[in-house]
Amino acid sequence: MAKDIGIDLGTSTTNIYVKDKGIVLSEPSVVAINTNTGKPVAVGTAAERMVGRTPPSITTIRPVRKGAIADFETAEFMLRYFLTKACGLSIKFGTTRMILSVPTKISEVEQLAVLEAAKSSCKKPAKALPRLIEEPLASAIGAELPLSADSAEGSMIIDIGGGTTEVAVISMGSIIVCDSVTVGGEDFDTQVINYMRNEHNLLIGEETAENVKIKAGCVFPQAQERSIDVYGRDMITGLPGNVRVFSSELIDPFKDTAIQIVECVKGVLDGLPPEISADIVRNGITMAGGGSLLTGLSEFMRTETNVPVKVVEGAQYATANGIGRCLSDLALRQLINSGRA
Ligand SMILES: Nc1ncnc2c1ncn2[C@@H]1O[C@H](COP(=O)(O)OP(=O)(O)O)[C@@H](O)[C@H]1O
Ligand SMILES: [Mg+2]
Repeated sequence: MAKDIGIDLGTSTTNIYVKDKGIVLSEPSVVAINTNTGKPVAVGTAAERMVGRTPPSITTIRPVRKGAIADFETAEFMLRYFLTKACGLSIKFGTTRMILSVPTKISEVEQLAVLEAAKSSCKKPAKALPRLIEEPLASAIGAELPLSADSAEGSMIIDIGGGTTEVAVISMGSIIVCDSVTVGGEDFDTQVINYMRNEHNLLIGEETAENVKIKAGCVFPQAQERSIDVYGRDMITGLPGNVRVFSSELIDPFKDTAIQIVECVKGVLDGLPPEISADIVRNGITMAGGGSLLTGLSEFMRTETNVPVKVVEGAQYATANGIGRCLSDLALRQLINSGRA
């Protein structure tokens, strides 16, 4: 049987939603390639485990960079692999409907690239052409913000992904103002790597850095101090080494990245029509995307903007859940249709 499918092709993670089933696949957007043959050797979770551990003949690629497809061929391969894995044989019968999320600043050429990758990743052409939805709109739908076309109530969504942060103000089912910065969760990982190298003479890889960020990372003082033992290579002895790191140590190294995110939000808040500003102060800002789970980021945002902030439950799945709701709700799909996508 053919299926209705939603795809959130993120910089860090690809989520696939199948109508009436929910999210059936959530895997890192990574492909490992054998450089001698040019052939992929692993995709998704299996490929991510190889990052930083590959022999010279294998390289790992993240085909989606800063929200856009940076490597078309690899992205298409990855999408086809995920679709087959998520939908099994049924993908052979084609899809009836396919919706993909894209960043708000995506160019027309990039839009076509995403559509082309989606089309060619199905063995049989879909019955209807794939459609695109702007990522923050999908996240806002996933977060169940008031979005019907007759709801003249402004709300703000911030989606912090791996490589980008998208900020949008939505009223009457459409984005009225939006902006984005190419800063996201991965930038905090880079700060962890730099901090460990500069302050503790310890070289660490990306996976370790992400783990430190999730377990002990922090951008705003917390009542509870957390710590983690970080393992890597001691730069002085050249031998394996480890250092215990405390969350309060990371506040300072994370500041610049957090400020860049906040500045983008302030830029969108500045210049809003006064009634919409009033709505946002009343309703608060909603944060989504895996990056919004960083400890203290919502408090930092609240302090800097003076507006209440909440992080939506299941933040990293908000976009995919929003696309999923569009698959089964005609009124929501009409919101997409009235947009530019
Ligand atoms: N609990 C957490 N604390 C801090 N960061 C997190 C947490 N969970 C996920 N992340 C970060 O969220 C980012 C991925 O978010 P996601 O919304 O999946 O991104 P994208 O849409 O770009 O693929 C990664 O940088 C990841 O490290
Ligand atoms: Mg995302």
